[in-house]
Amino acid sequence: MKVLIAGGSGLIGRALTQSLLEDGHEVFVLTRRPESVRLPQGAQAVGWDGQKTGNWLAFLEKSDAVVTLAGQTLASWPWTKRKKQRFFDSRVRPALVLAEACGRVSRRPKVFLQASAIGYYGPRGDLPVTETDSPGKDLGARICQQAEAASKPVELLGIRHVILRTGVVLARESIILKLMALPVRLFIGGPLGSGTQGFSWIHIADEVSAIRFLLENEAASGAFNLTAPEPLSNAEFTQILARVLQRPYWLPVPALLLRLVLGEMSSLVLDGQFVLPERLQKLGFQFRFPRAEEALRDLLTRRIAV
Ligand SMILES: NC(=O)c1ccc[n+]([C@@H]2O[C@H](COP(=O)([O-])OP(=O)(O)OC[C@H]3O[C@@H](n4cnc5c(N)ncnc54)[C@H](OP(=O)(O)O)[C@@H]3O)[C@@H](O)[C@H]2O)c1
Repeated sequence: MKVLIAGGSGLIGRALTQSLLEDGHEVFVLTRRPESVRLPQGAQAVGWDGQKTGNWLAFLEKSDAVVTLAGQTLASWPWTKRKKQRFFDSRVRPALVLAEACGRVSRRPKVFLQASAIGYYGPRGDLPVTETDSPGKDLGARICQQAEAASKPVELLGIRHVILRTGVVLARESIILKLMALPVRLFIGGPLGSGTQGFSWIHIADEVSAIRFLLENEAASGAFNLTAPEPLSNAEFTQILARVLQRPYWLPVPALLLRLVLGEMSSLVLDGQFVLPERLQKLGFQFRFPRAEEALRDLLTRRIAV
């Protein structure tokens, strides 16, 4: 299979590309920096600006599947007005232009996967959230809704459209995991704010397997939550993190302090939801890391072979 991945140079994209290449698939990565980008060996970098069509249409025409993971990370302080606009534009424009381009090429892809996030649901209490729940109203929820809507028109072209509502991806390189592990490593770990807010996570290996599963499974269309079946509260997750790192868990970080330091961006750690991967499990997807303890042990304590 030939797969075109927009934003394939990022955390999820590189892991997905590597996995596809290992199984003999061909991968074209749409990137704004084709000369300097570092990709797994065998992937082909294709230049674009994420705004308009260009020479990359020739690669779209050859592709059986499109995945768009493009988007400026929200884990970037401070959230200025301009940056918040970029959060929208960097997701919505690439999705729009790719969907539009699918209508122009003579040979269309069979499936289109659109990145979104569990932020779609907005801050929730402690009730479990599934794909049937309504969207939230905050910034993250609005970004997700617009990104999802931008590529939906591909359905009118007869292309299978799948939305990836991903939770916090746990990987060795993930900024969020590094930030959460830092105070714990420094012996000052504890809950963030009340600690009761939901923390829905997924190991990078399962994120990649789930994307591959949805790419290849013709029965899959619409929105899917990509989260482990064991969502935790922030306090429970941090306690497990402390146990895995063999550090104490004792010092709560006051919500007020986080709001003062991080401003609006504090919502990334102070708000949350308990999200279940209901549709993925109904289709028979099996998680390799359903539990946080095993996921964290794999990422934080296992030595990497050199
Ligand atoms: N990682 C997570 O925990 C997580 C959780 C939920 C949802 N998601 C979503 O999943 C997607 C991929 O996540 P990730 O962690 O792999 O992100 P990432 O590491 O930040 O990579 C995103 C990629 O998007 C491209 N990009 C950024 N701004 C762009 C723009 N203005 N126009 C076109 N492309 C742009 C970049 O590619 P180039 O620089 O090569 O052009 C970058 O490599 C994102 O949409 C993210 O919101 C991620």
